[in-house]
Amino acid sequence: MRARQAEPSLVRPGEPDEYGTWTAERLEAWLRASTGREPVIVVSHRAPRRSAQAIDSRTRGPVELESSGIVSAVEPLIRACSGVWVAHGKEEDSTSDDQPYRVRRVSLEDEEQHGFYYGFANEALWPMCHRAHVKPTFRPDDFTTYWNVNARFADVVRQEASSDSPLVFVQDYHFALAPQLVRERLPHSRVITFWHIPFPHWQEFEVCPWGQYLLEGLLGSSIIGFQTPLDCRNFIETVERCLGAHVDRYHDALTYGGRQVLVRAYPTSVRWPGWWASCSPTIEICRESIRRQLCLPVDTQLGVGVDRLDHTKGIEEKFLAIERLLECYPEYRERFVFAQLAAPSRETLPAYRDLRARVLAARDRVNARFGSANYTPIILLEEHHTQAHVNLFLRAADFCYVGSLHEGMNLVAKEFVSARDDERGVLLLSAFAGAARELTDALSINPYDIDDAASVIARALTMNDEEQAERMRRMRSVVSEYSAWRWAAHILSDAARLRRER
Ligand code: F6P
Repeated sequence: MRARQAEPSLVRPGEPDEYGTWTAERLEAWLRASTGREPVIVVSHRAPRRSAQAIDSRTRGPVELESSGIVSAVEPLIRACSGVWVAHGKEEDSTSDDQPYRVRRVSLEDEEQHGFYYGFANEALWPMCHRAHVKPTFRPDDFTTYWNVNARFADVVRQEASSDSPLVFVQDYHFALAPQLVRERLPHSRVITFWHIPFPHWQEFEVCPWGQYLLEGLLGSSIIGFQTPLDCRNFIETVERCLGAHVDRYHDALTYGGRQVLVRAYPTSVRWPGWWASCSPTIEICRESIRRQLCLPVDTQLGVGVDRLDHTKGIEEKFLAIERLLECYPEYRERFVFAQLAAPSRETLPAYRDLRARVLAARDRVNARFGSANYTPIILLEEHHTQAHVNLFLRAADFCYVGSLHEGMNLVAKEFVSARDDERGVLLLSAFAGAARELTDALSINPYDIDDAASVIARALTMNDEEQAERMRRMRSVVSEYSAWRWAAHILSDAARLRRER
């Protein structure tokens, strides 16, 4: 079956910004004029940087941010508001340097990290929320550890709060219980929770033995944000069915235990202009440099994928599509190469080890079938790549291939669009990634339909410059209008409205 057409949808009436590009300066000016620059306490598992690193003297920003969806989306917000970012890590790596915000690390014992992060977050919640056909594993000990770690982070929020009604911004499925635990400690706090991954249909959610605790934990929030309206709908239906909460669909609000909680979609985005816009080498230099690094002839057509090595990302399916392309369109043999950047992820978990074995086997088979002494059709680069290096690949590529089997948003798609100031390059985008709702000028792919995906790759490789430019221009206009700065403005304006109302 052909992948469904993505639906366009961006602006809701009454938002602070119905037109124009949002920048760091505009966000700061708007904050000063409307809400004041209220410090925020962010809670997430990952810190914005791997360790306390040097600060870039030119941008006054961190030299190298962690490349994760949460960091791309949330860092601009806390940068504008100031405050403290509470995240897992070694306590001695906490920073209080001249950044606009501090990073406070919470160190976890190996056993805690095992039950909280590997166990409950990534073997139970991650597979339960993604349609990627990995069975969730629910272990009572993991859930207990998850609860205890959420409580430890809530304790740190209380320590860090400078008033009895702080603004707390909780991130993702690692912290479903934290909103309620923060509220128990700071009853007047405004807790905004953002769920970065898909929220499942209630029938998928009800398999979780502790689902009620998770929902009650989340309902400790004042606002719960999701990537898409479908995620909001799934959450509202789940809470209605499992807890009997009262739903006010007109106001996107739920009432439970006498408290009202707003449920809204805020699609995450990337900085605009991108972090590297002012210092990227020219497209020509990027093309030459990457082809040299990969030992490719200068006229080789290059496709690029950038993912964590995760079963939701559809990497194996991409390799199958490339195999089909080289079978059905022999003219691309020796002339086309696909480079997959794959960051190692959650490697101790069996599902991830199995996936890696399948991905390597698919690569080896395709390379054995179609490769030669001088030609390797699929190049798999398994390592953590810096954002600067990823940017070089995105600028050097003829197309970028996002093949997620299911994903909340996928910011690589938006990074690609942001990187292509030459208005060239084609985006191949899975219809099952949240980004497909906005980037309707991408070539849509159903990652399960290998034949169709192969023909879409062929189409990307033959698309003329005019069509590339038209599509890229429209996608750049979408991403420039709905950047990470504007995402921050939407969330903060809702938080400010809440403060006024209460
Ligand atoms: O997509 C949600 C998300 O939390 C991202 O922010 C991040 O890239 C990933 O999932 C988590 O990866 P990790 O397990 O390496 O923190």
